[in-house]
Amino acid sequence: MEKPKIFLSRALPAEVADMLRRQFVVADNPTDRTLSADDFVAAAAECDGVLVTPSNRVDAALLARCPRIRVVSNIGVGYDHIDVAACTARSVLVTNTPGVVDGATADLTWALILAACRRVVEADGYVRAGEWAKSPQPFLGQQVHGATLGILGFGRIGQAVARRAAGFEMTVLYHQPRRVADDLESACNATFVGRDELLQRSDILTLHMPYEPGTHHAIGAREIALMKPTAVLVNAARGGIVDDAALIAALGRGAIAAAGLDVFENEPRLDAGYAGLRNVVLTPHIGSATMATRVKMVQLAIGNLVAALTGGTVPAPVNPDVLPRRASA
Ligand code: 8YV
Repeated sequence: MEKPKIFLSRALPAEVADMLRRQFVVADNPTDRTLSADDFVAAAAECDGVLVTPSNRVDAALLARCPRIRVVSNIGVGYDHIDVAACTARSVLVTNTPGVVDGATADLTWALILAACRRVVEADGYVRAGEWAKSPQPFLGQQVHGATLGILGFGRIGQAVARRAAGFEMTVLYHQPRRVADDLESACNATFVGRDELLQRSDILTLHMPYEPGTHHAIGAREIALMKPTAVLVNAARGGIVDDAALIAALGRGAIAAAGLDVFENEPRLDAGYAGLRNVVLTPHIGSATMATRVKMVQLAIGNLVAALTGGTVPAPVNPDVLPRRASA
């Protein structure tokens, strides 16, 4: 029987690709460059399965050009770069990597909270530039311990952020469409409030919802206007949840104190407005970027891909409805 063909759109350790070659014909991207749709299609047109990340948009047009694809395995939990409806319509299984990114993303959220509140990056630049001895500055920031932490989106990552707040003796508030069970609220020491109340009461507001039509620009000019002038906004979820133009304007005029951002609209291109602001800390979508977490993500993504192509139990399907359809096809 012919081996199924797969395309690994990002570089993986050589041992992983070699291991996959035992079962599959493997096309890869060893230089790890971000591929255009045309380059992706050139490599994946004859493939049965593809491994992707948020840098690869998978839509109906791409699927039409790669008609053999049966599984799209995403290295990551968020899949807003994949048109799941288009995949389902063609009986293409989509899989992701839930759970394994939670701890690292919550840690990075805290790095942004602390850096933005305490002006760590700005202060670092000042010391490096030799400014300290010339013009001593106090670098007054926002207090973290004892503050009110607002969490918009209270899934696994939002909850992990809440649990980490215990050591900072914070009041933790959260909002999302549905309130979580009482025991989970107690475990996270978190209180459910309305959306506007969350915006008004938070000293630090951190976002942890998926990006979808209903969360596009969930934080825009109206929401920022409800926040305290001393508030700090953190986004390690997805670009597009925040209206970047509105946030840049607000940070520029001091309508809120600071922001810490790991994700952006149109990333990897940065809105030039951010670069000129001192009160924003910027990181390049590194929420899950620890070696231990990336290894787990790749393991899960490969487990999904292999199971989907060999008839095994798929650990993390996004559109499991296509599985019975495929089995009976
Ligand atoms: C990226 C992420 O997938 O899990 C997610 O949703 O955004 C990240 O972990 C990762 O950076 C790309 O491999």
